[in-house]
Amino acid sequence: MRELSVTESVPEDVVALVRDARRVVVLSGAGISAESGVPTFREVQRGLWERFSAEELATPDAFDNDPALVWTWYRWRQSLIDAVEPNAGHRCLAAWQEHLSAQHGWLAVVTQNVDDLHERAGAEVLGHLHGSLAAHRCADCGEPAELPAPRYDGFTAPPTPEDPPGCESCPDGVLRPDVVWFGEMLPAPAFDAAAAAIRAADLVVVVGTSGIVQPAASLPLLGLERGIPLIEINPEETGLTEVMDFAIRGRSGEVLPRLLSAAGVPTGRR
Ligand code: APR
Repeated sequence: MRELSVTESVPEDVVALVRDARRVVVLSGAGISAESGVPTFREVQRGLWERFSAEELATPDAFDNDPALVWTWYRWRQSLIDAVEPNAGHRCLAAWQEHLSAQHGWLAVVTQNVDDLHERAGAEVLGHLHGSLAAHRCADCGEPAELPAPRYDGFTAPPTPEDPPGCESCPDGVLRPDVVWFGEMLPAPAFDAAAAAIRAADLVVVVGTSGIVQPAASLPLLGLERGIPLIEINPEETGLTEVMDFAIRGRSGEVLPRLLSAAGVPTGRR
């Protein structure tokens, strides 16, 4: 593994990997949305949730114990996502995807994020491994439900928790966000599609994830087994750093524009 700093010029072997790749998988995590103003999962929380870590709220047990607290947390996070914009990192990936597809290649975005910032930057997402904040379903019968956007101010935590709405398809069910909580199964189609894309890729780029939440963190290992080059973009060391060929230390909104422009990938139109 070679560690590179964002301040040094990108070495030619890294540039060549990006320039020559035709089939790319990008695995993203909360860090890619950090520069848009979305807190990552390991940051301290405020307001109603200051006593809880994100990991404590993102569980079936937390929802069973206090549905209003967990429901309101997710609705508030959704309102925060609605209030922010994609950043340069999201936009670069969309531009790279467009560039490769114009050359009969492809770039598959696989994300652990439940936000829609990749899509709003213009990228097509192959898989949301942990579901989506904007989707809801009944916690009992599983029936999907459409809800209007939350009415919170995304920047100020609401003062009181709000109960989740009841399900219209079964008598006792209440709605929950259609996201994957700790201990729950990932959606098999998204995971299988991600695994297949990695097996077919000639470059895997891992951006903004701590690489500790399984099974998503195991996906780059499929690339490792096949000798596919792996690049990490993250300001800090992660659970996946040791298997990487290159770890570029910096924020994705700075590293991606530099890396892509060094490799001749046009990023300026977005
Ligand atoms: N650019 C790139 N990476 C960044 C940036 C940035 N500007 N800012 C922070 N990071 C990195 C951090 O160094 C960290 O490694 O983003 C990572 C964020 O880690 P987590 O919060 O653990 O996010 P993630 O890896 O996506 O979490 C995985 O855990 O709770 C669950 O389901 C939730 O999808 C989430 C999963």
